[in-house]
Amino acid sequence: MEFLGNHILSIDQFDKDDIVKVFLIAEKMIPYANREKKTRVLQGAILSNMFFEASTRTRISFGSAFNLLGGEVRETTGIEASSLAKGESLYDTARVLSGYSDLIVMRHPEKNSVQEFSEASRVPVINAGDGENEHPSQALLDLFTIKLELESKGKSIDGSNIALVGDLKFGRAVHSLCKALNLFENISFNLISPEQLKLPPEIRQDLVYNGMKINEFNSIESGIGDVDIIYVTRVQEERFDSPKEANKYKGLLKLNQNIYTENCEPNTVIMHPLPRDSRPDANELDTDMNENPNLAIYRQTDNGLLVRMALISLILGVDQTLSDYDEDISWVSSKKSN
Ligand code: CP
Repeated sequence: MEFLGNHILSIDQFDKDDIVKVFLIAEKMIPYANREKKTRVLQGAILSNMFFEASTRTRISFGSAFNLLGGEVRETTGIEASSLAKGESLYDTARVLSGYSDLIVMRHPEKNSVQEFSEASRVPVINAGDGENEHPSQALLDLFTIKLELESKGKSIDGSNIALVGDLKFGRAVHSLCKALNLFENISFNLISPEQLKLPPEIRQDLVYNGMKINEFNSIESGIGDVDIIYVTRVQEERFDSPKEANKYKGLLKLNQNIYTENCEPNTVIMHPLPRDSRPDANELDTDMNENPNLAIYRQTDNGLLVRMALISLILGVDQTLSDYDEDISWVSSKKSN
């Protein structure tokens, strides 16, 4: 795909070489993310970070990524804080905001809303999550993490065994991740979900069409025994008709240290796109796993910064000129690694 000046709306736009390119640039971002040096390569550029639905890590990491590249960030959080609440259309919003920005990152609760917005935008738009549809930058950071975690154990994405757990119906991170993994070879998927929250049939069919092996389970213990990665997800309560409906599924699938010890191979990697729902009625990934060295959730979030810096630099055409604008940092950074 051509990154320069283009929208990122779906993992469908990527082939394997595109993903390799993003990962190579992401690795070049490590010294900047680690505060070993800084770059002013995007000095003068403005990111509009438009989050019409709740977010912590996607919003802050895109903003930080743009800042770390030397650019500035403007943002809106929540529909109620924007003129969408007064009936303004996505078309008008896009025409207006693209006059103020060089790049727009957008999240919205409705499927395909970011695509609609991008068609009216005069600058590139990155989809930061559109309803239950897709979350492409999350899939790229997840895949980057899977690659690094498996490589650290002498394995690779090709031929790996991955368990996807939880709300596979509404989880947009899972949908995008399945599309990304489908670019690789011979992956075995253990799909663990309540019957009503199974992976959408079209995504499942694409995996089967590409020769991936699919096993389905409705209990966590039965599906995590022989896998390299367990990718746990939250019940996406905001996509259900009512909290009461979502509550039927909360707490049905939980991973904790005891279940892990009794059922998993010792080096099985645990991932979650976050946020995890740590309320007692849900608790799909127990905090008693926080000190487990195979828990990769905070390495995922750190990797999100690298991958988002890479995407921004590719879209704005600065991926090869970063170091021309390097400067030393002037403060003492005592950040520890995850
Ligand atoms: N993973 C993810 O999208 O997190 P946020 O909702 O906090 O952005």
